[in-house]
Amino acid sequence: MTARLEAVCDVDRHEGIAPLTHAELITRIQGKHALIAMITDRVDRAVIEAGRDLRVIANVGVGFNNIDVAAARERGIVVTNTPDVLTGATADLTWALILGITRRIGEGERLIRRGEWKGWAFDQLLGMELRGRQLGIVGFGRIGRAVAERAVAFGMTVAHTGRDADAMPLDRLLSTSDVVSLHVPLRDDTRHLIDQPAFARMKRSAYLINTSRGPVVDEAALVWALKNRIIAGAALDVYEQEPQVHEGLLALDNVLLAPHLGSATIETRTAMADLAARNALAVLAGESPLTPV
Ligand code: DGY
Repeated sequence: MTARLEAVCDVDRHEGIAPLTHAELITRIQGKHALIAMITDRVDRAVIEAGRDLRVIANVGVGFNNIDVAAARERGIVVTNTPDVLTGATADLTWALILGITRRIGEGERLIRRGEWKGWAFDQLLGMELRGRQLGIVGFGRIGRAVAERAVAFGMTVAHTGRDADAMPLDRLLSTSDVVSLHVPLRDDTRHLIDQPAFARMKRSAYLINTSRGPVVDEAALVWALKNRIIAGAALDVYEQEPQVHEGLLALDNVLLAPHLGSATIETRTAMADLAARNALAVLAGESPLTPV
Protein backbone atom coordinates (compact mmCIF):
# COMPACT_ATOMS: atom_id res chain seq x y z
CA MET A 1 0.00 0.00 0.00
CA THR A 2 2.69 2.49 1.03
CA ALA A 3 4.70 2.02 -2.18
CA ARG A 4 1.60 2.62 -4.31
CA LEU A 5 0.90 5.83 -2.38
CA GLU A 6 4.49 7.07 -2.19
CA ALA A 7 4.76 6.88 -5.95
CA VAL A 8 2.39 9.86 -6.20
CA CYS A 9 2.00 11.43 -2.74
CA ASP A 10 3.90 12.60 0.31
CA VAL A 11 2.95 10.06 2.95
CA ASP A 12 2.83 10.70 6.71
CA ARG A 13 2.76 7.15 7.96
CA HIS A 14 1.89 6.13 11.51
CA GLU A 15 4.04 3.21 12.64
CA GLY A 16 3.16 0.99 15.55
CA ILE A 17 0.38 -1.29 16.67
CA ALA A 18 -1.56 1.14 18.86
CA PRO A 19 -3.68 3.63 16.91
CA LEU A 20 -2.90 7.34 17.08
CA THR A 21 -4.59 9.03 20.00
CA HIS A 22 -7.52 11.23 19.07
CA ALA A 23 -5.43 14.34 19.83
CA GLU A 24 -2.53 13.11 17.67
CA LEU A 25 -4.91 12.34 14.82
CA ILE A 26 -6.35 15.86 15.05
CA THR A 27 -2.85 17.32 14.85
CA ARG A 28 -1.55 15.12 12.07
CA ILE A 29 -4.64 15.36 9.85
CA GLN A 30 -4.00 19.07 9.31
CA GLY A 31 -2.84 19.82 5.79
CA LYS A 32 -3.57 16.28 4.53
CA HIS A 33 -5.72 15.60 1.48
CA ALA A 34 -6.41 11.93 2.20
CA LEU A 35 -6.69 9.81 5.31
CA ILE A 36 -6.25 6.05 5.16
CA ALA A 37 -7.88 4.97 8.40
CA MET A 38 -7.98 1.71 10.29
CA ILE A 39 -11.23 0.63 11.97
CA THR A 40 -9.60 1.49 15.31
CA ASP A 41 -9.20 5.17 14.31
CA ARG A 42 -12.05 7.32 15.62
CA VAL A 43 -12.65 9.73 12.77
CA ASP A 44 -15.30 11.89 14.36
CA ARG A 45 -16.49 15.42 13.62
CA ALA A 46 -13.52 16.97 15.49
CA VAL A 47 -11.02 15.08 13.30
CA ILE A 48 -12.97 15.88 10.15
CA GLU A 49 -13.15 19.58 11.02
CA ALA A 50 -9.41 19.65 11.74
CA GLY A 51 -8.75 18.11 8.31
CA ARG A 52 -9.69 21.21 6.34
CA ASP A 53 -7.96 19.97 3.18
CA LEU A 54 -9.32 16.43 3.34
CA ARG A 55 -10.91 15.08 0.17
CA VAL A 56 -11.15 11.40 1.02
CA ILE A 57 -11.24 9.10 4.04
CA ALA A 58 -10.43 5.55 2.92
CA ASN A 59 -11.26 3.08 5.67
CA VAL A 60 -9.37 -0.22 5.71
CA GLY A 61 -12.37 -2.35 6.63
CA VAL A 62 -15.89 -3.05 5.45
CA GLY A 63 -17.38 -1.63 8.66
CA PHE A 64 -17.19 2.15 8.92
CA ASN A 65 -18.90 2.89 12.24
CA ASN A 66 -15.58 4.51 13.32
CA ILE A 67 -16.23 7.39 10.89
CA ASP A 68 -18.78 10.18 11.20
CA VAL A 69 -19.97 9.79 7.61
CA ALA A 70 -22.57 12.56 7.94
CA ALA A 71 -19.91 15.06 9.08
CA ALA A 72 -17.68 14.02 6.16
CA ARG A 73 -20.52 14.41 3.65
CA GLU A 74 -21.33 17.89 4.96
CA ARG A 75 -17.80 18.91 3.99
CA GLY A 76 -17.87 17.09 0.65
CA ILE A 77 -15.33 14.48 1.78
CA VAL A 78 -15.67 11.07 0.13
CA VAL A 79 -15.69 8.06 2.48
CA THR A 80 -14.77 4.61 1.18
CA ASN A 81 -14.56 1.12 2.70
CA THR A 82 -13.26 -2.29 1.60
CA PRO A 83 -16.21 -4.60 0.85
CA ASP A 84 -16.01 -7.89 -1.09
CA VAL A 85 -12.28 -8.52 -0.62
CA LEU A 86 -12.81 -9.72 2.95
CA THR A 87 -16.07 -11.61 2.52
CA GLY A 88 -14.52 -15.09 2.14
CA ALA A 89 -12.02 -14.73 4.97
CA THR A 90 -14.69 -13.45 7.38
CA ALA A 91 -17.13 -16.21 6.42
CA ASP A 92 -14.38 -18.80 6.94
CA LEU A 93 -13.56 -17.39 10.39
CA THR A 94 -17.27 -17.52 11.25
CA TRP A 95 -17.24 -21.21 10.48
CA ALA A 96 -14.06 -21.71 12.50
CA LEU A 97 -15.96 -20.22 15.46
CA ILE A 98 -19.13 -22.26 14.81
CA LEU A 99 -17.12 -25.49 14.73
CA GLY A 100 -14.85 -24.39 17.56
CA ILE A 101 -17.65 -23.71 20.03
CA THR A 102 -19.97 -26.57 19.09
CA ARG A 103 -17.07 -29.08 19.25
CA ARG A 104 -15.58 -27.46 22.38
CA ILE A 105 -12.11 -26.88 20.94
CA GLY A 106 -11.27 -24.04 23.36
CA GLU A 107 -12.20 -26.12 26.40
CA GLY A 108 -10.13 -29.02 25.08
CA GLU A 109 -7.12 -26.85 24.44
CA ARG A 110 -7.30 -25.34 27.92
CA LEU A 111 -7.55 -28.84 29.42
CA ILE A 112 -4.33 -29.90 27.66
CA ARG A 113 -2.47 -26.69 28.52
CA ARG A 114 -3.42 -27.09 32.20
CA GLY A 115 -1.82 -30.54 32.09
CA GLU A 116 -5.12 -32.13 33.13
CA TRP A 117 -5.87 -34.32 30.12
CA LYS A 118 -5.86 -37.96 31.20
CA GLY A 119 -6.35 -39.43 27.73
CA TRP A 120 -9.28 -40.45 25.51
CA ALA A 121 -12.53 -40.90 27.37
CA PHE A 122 -15.85 -42.04 25.95
CA ASP A 123 -17.87 -39.14 27.30
CA GLN A 124 -15.25 -36.41 27.32
CA LEU A 125 -16.18 -32.91 26.03
CA LEU A 126 -19.12 -34.06 23.96
CA GLY A 127 -20.27 -31.44 21.51
CA MET A 128 -23.22 -30.82 19.22
CA GLU A 129 -23.36 -32.02 15.60
CA LEU A 130 -24.42 -29.49 13.00
CA ARG A 131 -26.01 -31.81 10.45
CA GLY A 132 -29.77 -31.26 10.20
CA ARG A 133 -29.73 -28.22 12.46
CA GLN A 134 -30.80 -24.67 11.63
CA LEU A 135 -28.30 -21.87 11.17
CA GLY A 136 -29.95 -18.47 11.71
CA ILE A 137 -28.19 -15.63 9.95
CA VAL A 138 -28.97 -12.14 11.21
CA GLY A 139 -28.00 -9.74 8.41
CA PHE A 140 -28.01 -11.26 4.95
CA GLY A 141 -25.49 -9.09 3.14
CA ARG A 142 -22.31 -10.26 1.45
CA ILE A 143 -20.80 -11.95 4.51
CA GLY A 144 -24.08 -13.42 5.75
CA ARG A 145 -24.66 -14.99 2.32
CA ALA A 146 -21.12 -16.37 2.19
CA VAL A 147 -21.65 -17.97 5.62
CA ALA A 148 -24.93 -19.45 4.33
CA GLU A 149 -23.23 -20.94 1.23
CA ARG A 150 -20.77 -22.81 3.46
CA ALA A 151 -23.63 -24.26 5.55
CA VAL A 152 -24.41 -26.76 2.77
CA ALA A 153 -21.09 -28.50 3.43
CA PHE A 154 -22.12 -29.10 7.05
CA GLY A 155 -25.68 -30.23 6.28
CA MET A 156 -27.35 -27.29 8.01
CA THR A 157 -30.53 -25.59 6.91
CA VAL A 158 -30.39 -21.81 6.82
CA ALA A 159 -32.84 -19.15 7.98
CA HIS A 160 -32.06 -15.48 7.58
CA THR A 161 -33.44 -12.05 8.45
CA GLY A 162 -33.85 -9.36 5.81
CA ARG A 163 -36.31 -7.91 3.38
CA ASP A 164 -36.53 -10.62 0.72
CA ALA A 165 -39.45 -13.01 0.38
CA ASP A 166 -37.61 -15.86 2.16
CA ALA A 167 -36.58 -13.78 5.16
CA MET A 168 -37.69 -14.77 8.66
CA PRO A 169 -38.62 -12.26 11.38
CA LEU A 170 -35.82 -11.94 13.95
CA ASP A 171 -37.92 -13.24 16.87
CA ARG A 172 -38.81 -16.43 15.00
CA LEU A 173 -35.26 -16.92 13.80
CA LEU A 174 -34.00 -16.59 17.38
CA SER A 175 -36.50 -19.07 18.77
CA THR A 176 -35.99 -21.73 16.08
CA SER A 177 -32.24 -21.64 15.29
CA ASP A 178 -29.57 -23.92 16.75
CA VAL A 179 -26.77 -21.55 15.80
CA VAL A 180 -27.38 -17.79 15.45
CA SER A 181 -24.69 -15.87 13.56
CA LEU A 182 -24.61 -12.06 13.44
CA HIS A 183 -23.68 -10.17 10.26
CA VAL A 184 -25.34 -6.77 10.59
CA PRO A 185 -23.42 -3.48 10.49
CA LEU A 186 -23.31 -1.43 13.70
CA ARG A 187 -25.92 1.34 13.50
CA ASP A 188 -28.25 2.93 16.02
CA ASP A 189 -30.92 0.33 15.20
CA THR A 190 -28.55 -2.64 15.60
CA ARG A 191 -26.83 -1.55 18.85
CA HIS A 192 -27.75 -4.17 21.48
CA LEU A 193 -29.95 -5.94 18.94
CA ILE A 194 -29.18 -9.08 20.90
CA ASP A 195 -30.18 -8.18 24.45
CA GLN A 196 -31.64 -10.04 27.42
CA PRO A 197 -35.12 -10.55 25.85
CA ALA A 198 -33.43 -11.80 22.65
CA PHE A 199 -31.42 -14.36 24.62
CA ALA A 200 -34.57 -15.41 26.46
CA ARG A 201 -36.15 -16.23 23.08
CA MET A 202 -33.28 -18.49 22.00
CA LYS A 203 -33.22 -22.25 22.53
CA ARG A 204 -31.36 -23.36 25.65
CA SER A 205 -29.27 -25.59 23.36
CA ALA A 206 -28.40 -22.74 20.93
CA TYR A 207 -25.08 -21.02 20.24
CA LEU A 208 -24.49 -17.36 19.40
CA ILE A 209 -21.67 -16.38 17.00
CA ASN A 210 -20.60 -12.74 16.55
CA THR A 211 -18.13 -11.66 13.87
CA SER A 212 -19.89 -8.35 13.11
CA ARG A 213 -19.39 -5.62 15.73
CA GLY A 214 -19.26 -6.05 19.50
CA PRO A 215 -21.98 -3.54 20.45
CA VAL A 216 -24.56 -5.48 18.41
CA VAL A 217 -24.63 -7.75 21.49
CA ASP A 218 -25.32 -6.54 25.01
CA GLU A 219 -22.27 -8.19 26.58
CA ALA A 220 -23.64 -8.02 30.15
CA ALA A 221 -26.80 -9.80 28.95
CA LEU A 222 -24.63 -12.38 27.16
CA VAL A 223 -22.75 -13.11 30.39
CA TRP A 224 -26.12 -13.53 32.13
CA ALA A 225 -27.34 -15.89 29.39
CA LEU A 226 -24.18 -18.02 29.42
CA LYS A 227 -23.93 -18.17 33.23
CA ASN A 228 -27.55 -19.17 33.64
CA ARG A 229 -27.45 -21.59 30.69
CA ILE A 230 -30.18 -19.60 28.90
CA ILE A 231 -28.13 -20.51 25.81
CA ALA A 232 -25.51 -23.26 25.43
CA GLY A 233 -22.56 -21.15 24.33
CA ALA A 234 -21.14 -18.29 22.32
CA ALA A 235 -18.16 -17.66 20.08
CA LEU A 236 -17.02 -14.08 19.65
CA ASP A 237 -14.57 -12.26 17.42
CA VAL A 238 -15.69 -8.76 18.42
CA TYR A 239 -16.40 -6.99 21.72
CA GLU A 240 -18.23 -3.97 23.05
CA GLN A 241 -15.07 -2.16 24.29
CA GLU A 242 -12.20 -3.60 22.27
CA PRO A 243 -9.57 -4.52 23.27
CA GLN A 244 -11.27 -4.96 26.66
CA VAL A 245 -13.29 -8.13 27.10
CA HIS A 246 -16.05 -8.32 29.72
CA GLU A 247 -14.57 -10.01 32.79
CA GLY A 248 -17.61 -12.24 33.09
CA LEU A 249 -16.80 -13.78 29.71
CA LEU A 250 -13.21 -14.56 30.68
CA ALA A 251 -14.43 -16.63 33.60
CA LEU A 252 -16.75 -18.84 31.53
CA ASP A 253 -15.97 -22.09 29.74
CA ASN A 254 -18.91 -22.06 27.32
CA VAL A 255 -17.53 -19.17 25.30
CA LEU A 256 -14.82 -19.14 22.64
CA LEU A 257 -12.94 -15.85 22.26
CA ALA A 258 -10.98 -14.63 19.24
CA PRO A 259 -9.25 -11.22 18.99
CA HIS A 260 -11.08 -9.64 16.00
CA LEU A 261 -9.53 -11.90 13.36
CA GLY A 262 -12.38 -11.98 10.80
CA SER A 263 -10.37 -10.65 7.88
CA ALA A 264 -6.94 -11.55 9.24
CA THR A 265 -5.30 -13.51 6.45
CA ILE A 266 -2.26 -12.32 4.54
CA GLU A 267 -4.19 -12.41 1.26
CA THR A 268 -7.21 -10.49 2.55
CA ARG A 269 -5.34 -7.84 4.53
CA THR A 270 -3.15 -7.21 1.46
CA ALA A 271 -6.24 -6.83 -0.71
CA MET A 272 -7.90 -4.51 1.85
CA ALA A 273 -4.85 -2.24 2.04
CA ASP A 274 -4.56 -2.18 -1.74
CA LEU A 275 -8.24 -1.31 -2.22
CA ALA A 276 -8.05 1.49 0.36
CA ALA A 277 -5.00 2.96 -1.40
CA ARG A 278 -6.70 2.74 -4.81
CA ASN A 279 -9.79 4.47 -3.40
CA ALA A 280 -7.71 7.33 -1.98
CA LEU A 281 -5.69 7.74 -5.17
CA ALA A 282 -8.80 7.70 -7.36
CA VAL A 283 -10.38 10.57 -5.41
CA LEU A 284 -7.12 12.56 -5.36
CA ALA A 285 -6.92 12.11 -9.15
CA GLY A 286 -10.44 13.48 -9.53
CA GLU A 287 -11.90 10.07 -10.43
CA SER A 288 -14.78 8.15 -8.86
CA PRO A 289 -13.81 5.98 -5.88
CA LEU A 290 -14.07 2.23 -6.39
CA THR A 291 -16.05 1.48 -3.24
CA PRO A 292 -17.70 4.55 -1.70
CA VAL A 293 -19.91 4.01 1.34
C1 DGY B 1 -14.06 -4.92 9.00
O1 DGY B 1 -13.56 -4.91 7.88
O2 DGY B 1 -14.97 -4.16 9.31
C2 DGY B 1 -13.52 -5.91 9.99
O3 DGY B 1 -14.10 -5.83 11.20
C3 DGY B 1 -12.02 -5.81 10.10
O4 DGY B 1 -11.50 -6.39 9.02
